[in-house]
Amino acid sequence: MRLPFLRRFATPPTGRLLPSGTTGAEPSPDTVTPGAPEPPLLRVRDLVTCFRTERGTVQAVDGISFDLAAGETLALVGESGSGKSVTALSLLRLIPSPPGRIESGQIHLEGEDLLALDEAGIRRVRGNKAAMIFQEPMSSLNPAMTAGMQVAEPLNLHRGMAWDDALARATELFREVRIPDAERRVNDFPHQFSGGMRQRVMIAMALACRPRLIIADEPTTALDVTVQAQVLDILKSLTEETRSALILITHDLGVVARYADRVAVMYAGRIVEIAPARQLYRAPRHPYTRGLMASVPRLDAHADERLVPIEGQPPDLANLPPGCAFAPRCRLAMPRCRTERPALEAVSADHFKACFADAHA
Ligand SMILES: Nc1ncnc2c1ncn2[C@@H]1O[C@H](COP(=O)(O)OP(=O)(O)OP(=O)(O)O)[C@@H](O)[C@H]1O
Ligand code: SF4
Ligand SMILES: [Mg+2]
Repeated sequence: MRLPFLRRFATPPTGRLLPSGTTGAEPSPDTVTPGAPEPPLLRVRDLVTCFRTERGTVQAVDGISFDLAAGETLALVGESGSGKSVTALSLLRLIPSPPGRIESGQIHLEGEDLLALDEAGIRRVRGNKAAMIFQEPMSSLNPAMTAGMQVAEPLNLHRGMAWDDALARATELFREVRIPDAERRVNDFPHQFSGGMRQRVMIAMALACRPRLIIADEPTTALDVTVQAQVLDILKSLTEETRSALILITHDLGVVARYADRVAVMYAGRIVEIAPARQLYRAPRHPYTRGLMASVPRLDAHADERLVPIEGQPPDLANLPPGCAFAPRCRLAMPRCRTERPALEAVSADHFKACFADAHA
């Protein structure tokens, strides 16, 4: 099944489907009618990000498209090198240049065209309307500044709050992320916090200006399992309270199952499957997603169920095959897969996959 609105894009958009009965025409301020569906908070279309390397130009993000609604959590999953972080960095225009460059595409956040902004304009968006939480807070925190000052800084910068007020708000934010003894701890320096507490400081900093979009790139990978769950619970409950959208990048499918509303699976810079999390778990349709699912322990797995690693090597982005990038590793590959690239197409109302094989094969 290919839906009419998908035909409008060189690379079809993924993600939230328009309700049935709509034509796919995008609402403009003039055409929005009372009761009409809200436009997405984030709208990404045909995003292409390249890096120039010694081995040639690699397309780390290769024409991805998706929408994200306010209050929604989208997990980005995929093997190492599949383009998750480059996608995240591209959204906030944080790609190191050189060697990287956003070649084409569109990124609209609350209708604002982020790729059209000048440097000052995108700086106003970062930390304000959109914020990022990285895996290793130590590299994002200033070791010479108290944690409280760092949480207060965006409030002073973007909201024009006086420092005293911003620091008082930072203390409240410390409480919101459940840092014990907040009044005292705002005066501590990053090295005085444990890894889990540091990540809470990062979350407080990211949430300070109540951003509409939060991107968390493996925010808890460096933490032990119990602390991971505490930090993610805090992040999730705060984004729910503020109806911020969350893009959660993770290797951990357990985390996906617990926190994500929808999941986008990336392979070689493309989204190869996107669906509501439950649906993706219940009935993954892309052979690569099935491989991923089979390669991790499942909560509902029998004790004797063995993990099946995905066979073959991850693709070399500098030397991709002409057809489906997964073909060299795919047991269902057919001649067509080696010459044509499968487009992302709907297999049900809000479930898309990029694969020529029959969905249930
Ligand atoms: N600074 C860079 N210079 C050159 N190429 C880069 C650079 N950063 C990323 N790339 C290319 O982009 C690809 C995707 O990288 P990305 O960091 O997005 O992967 P990822 O999916 O986040 O992987 P991981 O799970 O390991 O974090 C890399 O395989 C690499 O080819
Ligand atoms: S398009 Fe072909 S090679 Fe690619 S995942 Fe589907 S069956 Fe496998
Ligand atoms: Mg990454």
